[in-house]
Amino acid sequence: MKTRLTELCGLQIPIMLGGMYLVGRAELAAAVSEAGGLGTITSKTLGTPEALREEIQKIKALTKKPFAVNLNLFPSTTPTPNQAFIEVMAEEGVPIAETSGRSPEDILPLLKEAGIKVIHKVPGIRYAKTAQRLGVDAVTVVGQETGGHPGMSDVGTLVLVRRAVQELEIPVIAGGGFADGYGLAAALALGADGILMGTRFMATKEAHVHPHLQAFLQRATENDTLVLQRSIGYPSRVGKNAFAEDILKREEEGATLAELLPLLSGKRSLAVYFEGDMEAGIFSLGQSVGLFADIPSVKELMERIVREAEEALKRLQTIFGGDGP
Ligand SMILES: Cc1cc2nc3c(=O)[nH]c(=O)nc-3n(C[C@H](O)[C@H](O)[C@H](O)COP(=O)(O)O)c2cc1C
Repeated sequence: MKTRLTELCGLQIPIMLGGMYLVGRAELAAAVSEAGGLGTITSKTLGTPEALREEIQKIKALTKKPFAVNLNLFPSTTPTPNQAFIEVMAEEGVPIAETSGRSPEDILPLLKEAGIKVIHKVPGIRYAKTAQRLGVDAVTVVGQETGGHPGMSDVGTLVLVRRAVQELEIPVIAGGGFADGYGLAAALALGADGILMGTRFMATKEAHVHPHLQAFLQRATENDTLVLQRSIGYPSRVGKNAFAEDILKREEEGATLAELLPLLSGKRSLAVYFEGDMEAGIFSLGQSVGLFADIPSVKELMERIVREAEEALKRLQTIFGGDGP
């Protein structure tokens, strides 16, 4: 397959693994890259430049194909040493960075100097245009279906992707709500250069999360997520459990940031992801969780997605009176 994304990053398939705090480790990212997509490791999970270097060396041992490192620019009570991370990325020859959370303006010169391509992820057209003006190489737009941070505007992926394609000259990656080849075909039909997935990749053999969480992912429908943190201006789509429903209730009752922060802590999420205690805390999850019910290997999944996209194309060509691909 050939799009501006595959050309920019040297991929065979225009599918990217989005950065996933705690989940996006070298094994998963390498599997995505090996299958022809773009795997991403998440620097915030590693915490220190030394640990990030080890993880980069690990992924380089697992694949010779291109991969990305996610740099987290979200406001946080535990700020990440992004400048030191970028130095490590430059020294280790990381080809691509995924940035998200706020404008990458302050770190962009450092990344450009190091020859690192930048894909900036945004939940709205305004931010996408700013990122293009600043000189990023590609933009990912995520609609409100997305796992993680959908932004405050509640615009869905269908509209956002088409709007991004209308407004931007640089490659556009569509994110939020994609889990199969029908979604890939739809994104390409809208004019996007590829798709980004998070939730779907969490339900693969290479994602080392607890079997209880993967069982939840298999069972869950599109109604099993909810959006927290609207009250503090940083919406976050998470899996629906009693813990998350309680936070939502507290937000509706006017809880302060100080009251909410301990509940939103990543430490609690560790118990969900790795101990399988599904009520211990919150975990990011997108509505795309309703689109699948199995745990394939990344290779099986990516091959299936390409097959499904071809099926979708064939169906369209039948509708339009052609013979199909
Ligand atoms: C468990 C999980 C953790 C995530 N962590 C991050 C993160 O640390 N940084 C980031 O930019 N996006 C993060 N995201 C968002 C994903 O990179 C991606 O944008 C999103 O999952 C796409 O929507 P989908 O879940 O419908 O595929 C996370 C998503 C999930 C599901």
